[in-house]
Amino acid sequence: MNIHESEKLAGILTQKGYFPTEDNELADVIVFNTCCIRENAEQHAFGNLGALKYLKKKKPSLIIAVGGCMAQEEGTAEKIKESYPFVDIVFGTHNLELFGSYLDERLASKKRVFKITDDSGKIKEGLNPFRTSYPNAWVNIMQGCNNFCTYCIVPYVRGREKSRSKEAIFSEVQKLVLLGYKEVTLLGQNVNSYGKDLDGDVNFASLIDMLSEIRGDFRLRFMTNHPKDLTEDLVKAVANNKHCCHLIHLPVQSGSDRILKLMNRRYTSADYIEKVNLIKKYIPDCAITTDIMVGFPTETEQDFQDTLELVKKVGFSSAFTFVYSRRKGTVADKMEGQVSEDIKKDRIMRLVELCNEQTRIYSAKYLTKTVTVICEDYDKKKGLYLGRDEYGRMGYFKSDVNLIGELCNINITDVNGISLYGTLVTD
Ligand code: 5AD
Ligand code: SF4
Repeated sequence: MNIHESEKLAGILTQKGYFPTEDNELADVIVFNTCCIRENAEQHAFGNLGALKYLKKKKPSLIIAVGGCMAQEEGTAEKIKESYPFVDIVFGTHNLELFGSYLDERLASKKRVFKITDDSGKIKEGLNPFRTSYPNAWVNIMQGCNNFCTYCIVPYVRGREKSRSKEAIFSEVQKLVLLGYKEVTLLGQNVNSYGKDLDGDVNFASLIDMLSEIRGDFRLRFMTNHPKDLTEDLVKAVANNKHCCHLIHLPVQSGSDRILKLMNRRYTSADYIEKVNLIKKYIPDCAITTDIMVGFPTETEQDFQDTLELVKKVGFSSAFTFVYSRRKGTVADKMEGQVSEDIKKDRIMRLVELCNEQTRIYSAKYLTKTVTVICEDYDKKKGLYLGRDEYGRMGYFKSDVNLIGELCNINITDVNGISLYGTLVTD
C-alpha cells in the first residue's frame, strides 16, 4: 500500500518535471512516505529524517517533505515543526493528491507548509502513478478501514472505508494489461468489504467476476483479507477466474479465542479453520499465507500455545510474524497486562522457528518440479534472475538474456527457506 502511494507521489513529481535519482545529494526534493503501524517503523522514519539534516545544510534549496500515516498520527506534525526545522512540508494520508500544490506553495514562499486534513469522505481519482515495479502493478480498490482491531492504528490514520467505483478499477486494470503488465495486485486494508459503501449490488466477489472479463495473459492477486468477511461467493469467484492466483493472504493474528476477542477480530480459531476449509474446498491447491502477532496484552503461555497449534493445523505456505507494538490512541494500548519484552522475544523466536519449519516443508515439495514464474528482476549480488510463481514463491535462475516481464519455466534444483533455485527450461 505504502509503496503504491510512493508511486503516486512520484507521479505528481514527474508530472512537474522532476525525475528520479538514487543519489540524495543530487535530489531537489526528498519525500518521506511514512508508516506508523508499528513503533519500529516510526523510529526508522525519524532516524532517516534526522540523517538528512546535513544535506539541507549543504544545499538549502533542497525541499524535504514528510507524508503518509505517521504524519497523520496525532502529535507528529507538531513534533516535526519543533524538532525537525529542516523539514519543509508535512502532509497526511487524506490529502496526498494535493502534494504538488503544497510543493508549489513552499517554493513560492519561505514558509514551511503543514497540511494535515481530516478524512474528506471522498475517494480521489485521476492520479497518474509513476510505476516502478514492472511487470507487477498495484491498484488501490479502496482506502481506510472500519474494523478497529484493538491493536491497530490504521483506522485512526486512514479514516473510514471508501471504495473506488468498479468501472474505475476495471479500466485501470485493463489499461495496465494493455501496457504489458503481467501481474496486478488489488489493494485495500480489507478488500473483502469492498463495495459496502457504494450504491447498488457491488461486492468484492462481483468485482473479481468482472475483472475475469479482461482479456490477456496476466495474473491477479489481492490483499489484505479479513477472515470474518471472506465469503463463499468470493472463494468461488477466485476459483472461476482464470487470472486469479491460487494464493490467499488471510491474517489470523492469534490462535487463542480469548485473545482474538480482545483484539476485536470477530472470529474464533474454529471460524478461521472453517474459512481455510472453504478455500481448500473450491481451490484445493491454494496457498494460504498469514500475519501472526505475539505479545498482545494479557497473552499467556497457553494463548501462545493455541497460536502454535493453529499454525500447525493450517500449514501456512508462509507467515509474516509480528511482535505486538503499543500504538497511542488504540484500545489495546490502554489495556492492563502488557507483556514484557523478554516474553515477547521468546515467543516470537519460537513462532518464527515453527513458521520456518513449515516454510521448509512447503518449499521441499518444489524440488525437481517445474514451476512457471513471471520474471520480475535481476539480483546483481546473486547474478540470477528472479520471479514469483502463482503461489507467491520466489524462484531464482540463470539466464544470458534479459527475461524481465516474461513467463519462465524453471526446474527446481534447490530450495533455501522461502526461496527456490532452478534452471531455466528452454524448448
Ligand atoms: N503491533 C504489531 N503488529 C501489528 N500489526 C498491526 N498493528 C500492529 C501492532 N500494533 C500487524 C498485523 C497486521 C499487519 C499488517 O501488521 O498483524 O495484519
Ligand atoms: Fe488494522 Fe484490523 Fe483494519 Fe487490518 S482490519 S487495517 S488490522 S483495523
